[in-house]
Amino acid sequence: MKKTENQMLVIFGASGDLTARKLIPALFNLHLAKQLPKGFVALGVSRSDMTDEAFRDRVVYDSDYLKDKLKKLDKAEIKEFADKLFYEDLGESYDTDYKGLRKRVEELKAAHDTSGNIIYYLSTPPTLYETVAHKLADAGMNTQKNGWKRLIVEKPFGYSLETAKKLNEGLHQYFTEPQIYRIDHYLGKETVQNLLVTRFANSIFEPLWNRNYIQRVEITNAERVGVEKRGGYYDKSGALRDMFQNHLLQIVSLVVMEPPIGAEAEEIRNEKVKALKSLRIMEDEETLYQNTIRAQYVGSVVNGEPMKGYREEEGVDPNSTTETYAAIKFFVDNWRWHGVPFYVRTAKRMPTKVTEVVIHFKEPHHQIFKEPGMHNKDNKLIIRIQPDEGILIKFGVKVPGQGFTVERANMDFYYSSLAETYVMEAYERLLLDAMQGDATLYARADEVEAAWEFVDPILNYWQKGKDVRMYGYAAGVWGPENADELFEGDGFWRNPGENLADDPGYCVIC
Ligand code: BG6
Repeated sequence: MKKTENQMLVIFGASGDLTARKLIPALFNLHLAKQLPKGFVALGVSRSDMTDEAFRDRVVYDSDYLKDKLKKLDKAEIKEFADKLFYEDLGESYDTDYKGLRKRVEELKAAHDTSGNIIYYLSTPPTLYETVAHKLADAGMNTQKNGWKRLIVEKPFGYSLETAKKLNEGLHQYFTEPQIYRIDHYLGKETVQNLLVTRFANSIFEPLWNRNYIQRVEITNAERVGVEKRGGYYDKSGALRDMFQNHLLQIVSLVVMEPPIGAEAEEIRNEKVKALKSLRIMEDEETLYQNTIRAQYVGSVVNGEPMKGYREEEGVDPNSTTETYAAIKFFVDNWRWHGVPFYVRTAKRMPTKVTEVVIHFKEPHHQIFKEPGMHNKDNKLIIRIQPDEGILIKFGVKVPGQGFTVERANMDFYYSSLAETYVMEAYERLLLDAMQGDATLYARADEVEAAWEFVDPILNYWQKGKDVRMYGYAAGVWGPENADELFEGDGFWRNPGENLADDPGYCVIC
């Protein structure tokens, strides 16, 4: 096991939702698993006036996100964790002198033996990332003379290629690239990491992982929920920025990449960048028209319950043209993937929550069984990212009896069968990695820029293109009526059920 050195975690934006919902529960789990070093404290920083005690009440004792867990634990154990949490009020603005903050950090360091190692976690609005980095540097808090300093940056990382580049340049003035950890919580998911293992720790998949055997690749990310209370943020973002540019292109890069030389962070990240750079950028309007679909959910009734349309959601412009559904078809310009179409979609208010990768294999080169409908019995490898995490292979078997009637059978593996293994939550895993200086599961500057390079023309087209349409779909269905048109008669979306082995079309919608 890697060693975790004594250190301090300074969380900017500590009064925000992410801190209470994800970061503190992740730290708590690390504490319970005895993964935090002996000398460790977390210092929450934001513009709210709060004492250490009030902060502990908010994120631990009175937290909705921890209440079930707290019921099962004894008071001393909870207190031991809560006592590691502190709070510092920055006053009116993040753009201020950090002298006071520096003094507090020094005091905590001396009192709790955290050494000079510090992670700064930026969970503020993105417009403040550079300001915070700048002010830390002004206060001499970025120097590594007395212990390492790391900066974790939350998504969204930029709003476009240009803004992402500017942000990278801005941060690089104060922190070097190896000090910057750009978080993408999908990379913290075990099943996403398992894509690497499935491909590169087996000899049965990789020989088939190319244009000779793969007909198409399909990735679906569906959420049952709408925009919830995040209408204000989401309306300026949309599905393409919120999910596709980051989480889904990360999954794409793991499917597309070449085998790295080794498992070191830079080896893997080099291959991912190459993969993202090989996505064929769609430039002309005709291509963008043919290969992209955007849509928005409209009000409906699901199981007797009325569902609001997107434009009726709190914080959303009633005339909004922000997409809640994005489906993109694209090609990868390299030797391995030449001619293989990729279909990737993400949406809110779908019938179920599911993320999966489907590899559709080509039909056998010569069909000896002439039964009609054989093409519906193609081989598929389905990698279920969530829920019901697992892997399913669909293949043909003979139906007992005379002749050669072929039926499709399932061969499956479920993560839940590894019962005694503790599966870390994404944020838990990613925080621990950053604490140990392992950047494998964090995005590098060039990786983020390569992803924006692909996404930018689509966003521009959707904003300014002349034949762009915004389709509607009733909340609770699998997207707009014309969703399958992307396939141009060569297939259709696999609409997965809640369980990995459910056949398409089946799902629970309540
Ligand atoms: C976030 C998006 O990054 O990912 C949300 O901002 C989305 O809109 C969420 O709901 C989905 O994450 P998960 O882990 O629930 O699939």
